[in-house]
Order: sequence, then structure tokens, then C-alpha cells
Amino acid sequence: MRVLVVGGGGREHTLVWKIAKSPLVDDIFCAPGNGGTVEIANNIDINAEDIGELINFAKKEKIDLTVVGPEIPLVKGITNKFKGEGLNIFGPSKNAAMIEGSKAFAKLLMERVKIPQAAFEKFHNPERATDYLRKQNFPIVIKASGLAAGKGVIIINSFDEAEKTVKEIMTNKKFGTAGETIIIEEFLKGEEVSLLVLTDGVTILPFLSSQDHKQVYNDDKGPNTGGMGAYAPAPVLDRKEAGKVINSIILPVLDAMKTEGAKYKGILYVGLMITEDGLKVLEFNCRFGDPETQAILPLINSDLVEALLMTINGELKNAKIEWNDRSAVCVVLASGGYPGKYEKGKEIHGLKKLKGRDDVVVFHAGTKKENGRLLTTGGRVLGVTGMGDNLKDAIQTTYAAIGEISFEGMHYRKDIGRKGLKRG
Ligand code: AMP
Ligand code: GLY
Repeated sequence: MRVLVVGGGGREHTLVWKIAKSPLVDDIFCAPGNGGTVEIANNIDINAEDIGELINFAKKEKIDLTVVGPEIPLVKGITNKFKGEGLNIFGPSKNAAMIEGSKAFAKLLMERVKIPQAAFEKFHNPERATDYLRKQNFPIVIKASGLAAGKGVIIINSFDEAEKTVKEIMTNKKFGTAGETIIIEEFLKGEEVSLLVLTDGVTILPFLSSQDHKQVYNDDKGPNTGGMGAYAPAPVLDRKEAGKVINSIILPVLDAMKTEGAKYKGILYVGLMITEDGLKVLEFNCRFGDPETQAILPLINSDLVEALLMTINGELKNAKIEWNDRSAVCVVLASGGYPGKYEKGKEIHGLKKLKGRDDVVVFHAGTKKENGRLLTTGGRVLGVTGMGDNLKDAIQTTYAAIGEISFEGMHYRKDIGRKGLKRG
């Protein structure tokens, strides 16, 4: 088989790495890929959002399966367009991807099927939103309803800040049309956990639970990022608890989507907050999580491609995922200044020493190869995943490996996995 992976971050390097291990796969392409994917796949210089060019490429190169990493092409309808051209693709349809593409859609859907979530109000008008905020207690959360590259959720601590934020999003259009509708919601306190499941619309096949670390600094301090590290499995959501999430949250949501003409096929990501009042849904994503994928896929022994094909073909009831009984920890190494402004083009050193290890894999995100040198090109540069027989060993392995790596300005969290140790 010839496989195309769409995207160029750490998640996509991980997908390429896992897909390349499949006995079903002969050739693998990544568009646009990065300095890591280029070593195991053919990087193709096509933007992940350029659906027309991706279709031309898939036809010309006789691609048998396309796997989509990021949300934007899914929300733009890449799946419908590929299928319309007779091309095989893994990812939900445009209607189904709305569960991530519109927070208003997801919140209203959850309200209809009575899924526990943060109490919320939806606004199209900045004056109404500001009037409402005047009467609220803080902290409170303001969210742009549409896609805002992971930056559309802002935790607000005062009315002044709230007023300014509404103005930035709705009047100054900081996130473009994504901020035409905003959600103002209750601030939830607790521990976050992610559950990813494969579904063909009928059967649900869960992955191990995982936990992302959104804030940039240790102890969940500082501004939110795309994710500074993750580990799996997360003891805070064991298999029994995950089963409850499937029955009480995922199944009713998928049933409602099917009834409403948005049957979901693909990977569904549910982000949960474990509050004093029980589990509440923070968000749904229509794709693999980043960096959760970097911690989850290395724990799968079986063939992922087979499971993806069975999802597409509606045969998931016959699929099985075999897990190795290990733990994995992925720590993100970021550019100096990230998530704010940062410089690019710094040379990365030390990766050669980690090559060939079976307990450490370095997944690239913002990197490129240039004249034999590996350079930084993004905020999140590398995701170092270490594995061990338990979480403690995996943490040790990961941080020891990081000790080999350096680039100017590199920074990372030192406490990835610590919450899991407290529970484990
Ligand atoms: P979302 O994209 O909606 O998951 O939001 C991104 C991140 O913002 C989440 O992973 C949480 O860390 C935080 N967040 C979102 N909604 C809330 C909420 N209602 N209360 C507290 N934190 C939140
Ligand atoms: N790890 C968060 C996300 O993928 O959205």
C-alpha cells in the first residue's frame, strides 16, 4: 500500500513512524512533513490545508490511504472531497468534524444529550457578551467558537480583562471569523485527562487514556500552549473509568450525531476535567491529540493501519488493539520564548546519540533538515518519548534522554508525568 499522511507536526511524525511499521505499507509520504518524517517517508511540499493539491498528488501517486493529522483540513471537508474523487481517506466527514470546528455546535449537542459540561452562554454580539460578563464572577472562560489554532480559549480573571478580550475577539477579529460567535463558560477546577477512541460510527475501540500538560511552566503555571508533554496510560482514568466515559458520554454523542446526519467515522478525542462534581467534558477534537499521540502510539504492538482501514470500512467490531504493558512519557522541547515570540533556525544537537534505542523515540515537530544540519522551525520543536515498565521508569528514561539534546533557548517542563505518579 501507498500511504499519505497529511500534516507536519509531532503527531504526524508519530503517525508516519507507526504506519511505516505496518506490513501492509510499501511507501509512505508526508505533506508537508518535517525534519523527522523525511528520514522515514517522502516529504511532499504541499500545505496540509491545500486540499486540491493533495487530491492531485494522491491521484497521480496512486495513494491507497490518506491519514489526516490536523483539524483544519478535516473541518474544511477534506474527507468528503477525497471520497468524491474515489480516494480512500481516514478522518471524519465535514459535518462530523463540526464537533471540533464549532464549539457552539459541540456545546449545544452535549446540552441536547445531557452530557456533563461547563455551564455556558453563547454570544454573537459584543455588547451583549460584555453586559453578561459584568454580572459574572471570575475566573471565567471565554472561547472563540471556531478554530483558532489552539489559542481561542482564554481564562479570564477580572471584568476589565473580560471586556478587553471580547473586544479583541469580536470587534477587532483577532481570530477572524472563528470569533464571530463566542462561548462564555464556567471555569472548571480539576485534573484534565484525554481519551481517544476509534469509531466507525457503530463500534468504539478506545485507546489508553493519556494526560496532556497545557501550561508552559511546571506545576501548570503560565499561559496555555499547544501541549508541553503527555503520558499514557493516565492512572486517573483507568480502563474501568474509561468504560464509563464511553457509555455515558461518547456513545450518546455518537448516536445523536448519527441521528442528526453527522455519522462520525475516525478518531474522536474527548478532553475531560475531573472535577469535585465528577467528570465534565471540556472539548471534543476530530483528530489525534498532539502530544498525546506521541505517548500513545509507541504503546501499541498491533498494526495501526489495519485498525484505520477497519474504521473506514465499518468493520471495527473485528479489530483489536494490542497494547504492550508499558508506560510512555513524551516531553516537548520548545523554542526560547514559546508560546510567545521565538526565533527559528537554531541548530539542534545530540540526536545521533539516541538513534536505535528501543526505549526512546524522538518525534520531530518544528524541525527541518538543511545542508545536513537539523534546524528549529517552530515553537514546539521535538517531543522526546521514553518508555518504561512503569510510569516512574518512563519518566526517568525520558529526562535522561533529554540530557543529550540541546539547542539555543531550548526549554521544557520538568514535571511531565508527576501527577500520574501521585495517583499510580
Ligand atoms: P479546549 O480547547 O476547549 O479544550 O480548551 C483548551 C484548554 O483550556 C483545556 O485543555 C483546558 O486546559 C482549558 N479550559 C477549557 N475550558 C475550560 C474550563 N471551562 N475551565 C477550565 N479550563 C478550561
Ligand atoms: N493535546 C491537545 C490537543 O491535541 O488538542
